[in-house]
Amino acid sequence: MTTTAGWANPLLQPLERALPRHIGVVGAGAIGPDIAYYLKAALPQTSVTLIDIRQPAIDAALERLRGYRDKAVARGKMAAAAGERLLDGLTGSTDYDALAGCDWVLEAATENLALKRRIFADVEARVAGDAVITSNTSSLPAARIFSALRRPQRATVTHFFAPAWRNPAVEVIAWAGADAALVAWLRRVFCATGKLPLVTADVPCFMLDRVFDNWCNEAAHLLAHASAAEIDTVAGEIVHAGPFFVLNLAHGNPIIVETNTLQADEEGEHYRPAAIFRSVERWLTVAPNQRIEVAPPTHARIRDRLLGVLLSQSVDILDRDIGSAADLDIGCRVALGFKRGPVELLRELGDEQAQRMLARFAAERPGMPMPRRALAAYRDAQRHVLADRVGDVVVITLRRPEALNALHDEMTDEILAAIRQHEADAGVAGFVLVGYGTKAFCAGADIGRFPAVLGDAGAAAQYARDCSRLLVHLDRCGKPVVAALNGLALGGGFELAMRCHARVAERHAFMQLPEVTLGIVPGIGAMVVPYRRWPAAAATFHRMLVRAERLRAAEAHELGVVDELADGFDDLIVRSIARVHALAAAGITRIGDAPVELPPFEPHAGTAADGRPLSAQVVCTIEAGVREAAAQSTLGAALEAGYRAFGAVACTAAAREGIDAFVQRREPDFGKTG
Ligand code: HXC
Repeated sequence: MTTTAGWANPLLQPLERALPRHIGVVGAGAIGPDIAYYLKAALPQTSVTLIDIRQPAIDAALERLRGYRDKAVARGKMAAAAGERLLDGLTGSTDYDALAGCDWVLEAATENLALKRRIFADVEARVAGDAVITSNTSSLPAARIFSALRRPQRATVTHFFAPAWRNPAVEVIAWAGADAALVAWLRRVFCATGKLPLVTADVPCFMLDRVFDNWCNEAAHLLAHASAAEIDTVAGEIVHAGPFFVLNLAHGNPIIVETNTLQADEEGEHYRPAAIFRSVERWLTVAPNQRIEVAPPTHARIRDRLLGVLLSQSVDILDRDIGSAADLDIGCRVALGFKRGPVELLRELGDEQAQRMLARFAAERPGMPMPRRALAAYRDAQRHVLADRVGDVVVITLRRPEALNALHDEMTDEILAAIRQHEADAGVAGFVLVGYGTKAFCAGADIGRFPAVLGDAGAAAQYARDCSRLLVHLDRCGKPVVAALNGLALGGGFELAMRCHARVAERHAFMQLPEVTLGIVPGIGAMVVPYRRWPAAAATFHRMLVRAERLRAAEAHELGVVDELADGFDDLIVRSIARVHALAAAGITRIGDAPVELPPFEPHAGTAADGRPLSAQVVCTIEAGVREAAAQSTLGAALEAGYRAFGAVACTAAAREGIDAFVQRREPDFGKTG
């Protein structure tokens, strides 16, 4: 857990410097324009100037960005009016003088140290003394790029991943010469604009390219034993696209030569790039959704080596404190397309398998890093929550932004562990739960985990019971836990907030129980808790349950469901912490045991609030479950009615259809399921 020196949740850092008003992006090649597009979309009031020495490159870049914009509008991802304004204030120039007045200049030119140094000297000669300067280098250490600047403390590396307008990951390098406030500001700006900043140390290739470059280099070394198509086929079990496929896509061979030469020169011959990278332009391989037959011994060899290099790089990153286990895992998934993070893989493999792979890797690739500690020291790291101590309150941040902070078992366990760890600490007054970023508190239980429990009522009811372990703990928790609703709170996310002892909501937040649209029921408390906690709001909850009506923060506040409204993230946290203190002083109100009276459900039109058709069977199950729960004379018995309803609905064709439709990104057809 961090202290005030550096918040784990970047938004806890007060915004001590204004948001940028004029940003310069140097380099109109592949990634520079994509960065400019992200910045324009995220900060519409900001002017962005794209600089390149070649006018045709600028013209082509601006044309490309207009294409992105048109596609977004055509697909309904962006309103036409917003699309029209999006590129206002985005200009191109071949003259560095156009950078005068920029308060942030971001360089995305070729990977060449001398060139970058020249660019930054030119930039520094034109911008104000306090303008921020960053480089998008993927490999060159910040100290080398910036040490010749007159004011290096305002400069660092911000390394984006392709496609930069959409890929949320950005490495922010905490190098010795940078002002700590600069790193904190960049993290906050990125997090507030939908990015996922990952702080890394100032070593060649930083954190994620060490993983990616060595993964590709190892694949090339393996060509002595297997074809590129065989290697990509086996790699496809671990990543969404194999290394050779990605290298083809990114024209990446020269990049691996350059970055692995840098690592070899600095850290040892074992990093030297495979010679074949210099003689091959394109690899003959398979697409991500294709597989070819691979003989079992070849398969085992490829898998061992690929996992070997992944584990070797990962333990090295953690041993040298290049990045944290949580950032390494999420970065590998989000930026590099790994299906699982390396720490998660380490857990899944088990110590024995991992030791065997590492031993084989050490024998076949002498010099490669090996763990300096027992494997347990790496695999037990917290990965899905961030914990920050703000005075005597622990702020726990749910961080799975790639799934809008949806809850799965591992995250639930980590929240529970963070609460348990501090519950008995007399110095801790209580807890605040908040979601990472500004869009979501939590989008509910992870729907991707549902298919495994469909079709078995007992197993599904048990799944709901298991999912509830955190919520049941909150019912008894000795210290106040306040939900800080920084964005949408859906399904299980809202059920989590209901069980907290108070709720503070940012004004744009909303709550919803969309389960009925998925052909399932909200089985972990929503059919029970609202009626016992806010009986006067029963009619609203009826509609939320059977029509998936949204409840906006202001209306929730009027109903007493939300205790307090906040303006912006800073205010949300301040108010939530004050609530913890108030509850610690006044005592926690528990959810009642007594049965409750219910108003009748209104006749159902068969559609959700947004007009989508629903399953009549599921609507009936919800109504019956709510009535059964209301009649129970203990909270525990009422919750059990909810778990059973989830079990019953999990056996319906509607549930199968609803969950399949979500996973396949299509509308469900409840007409055929009933
Ligand atoms: C898993 C989820 C998720 C969830 C969002 N995502 N919600 N993954 N479980 N609950 C993922 C999406 O698949 C997507 O991944 C990414 O997050 C971003 O979401 P988008 O849909 O692209 O964003 P947007 O278009 O803005 O739509 C936001 C949204 C939508 C309206 C919130 O994501 C949505 O409808 N989510 C489902 C919400 C829900 O039904 N919650 C209740 C779950 S059931 P990719 O990889 O495609 O980018 C529940 C019951 C508990 O909680 C009971 C258990 C016993």
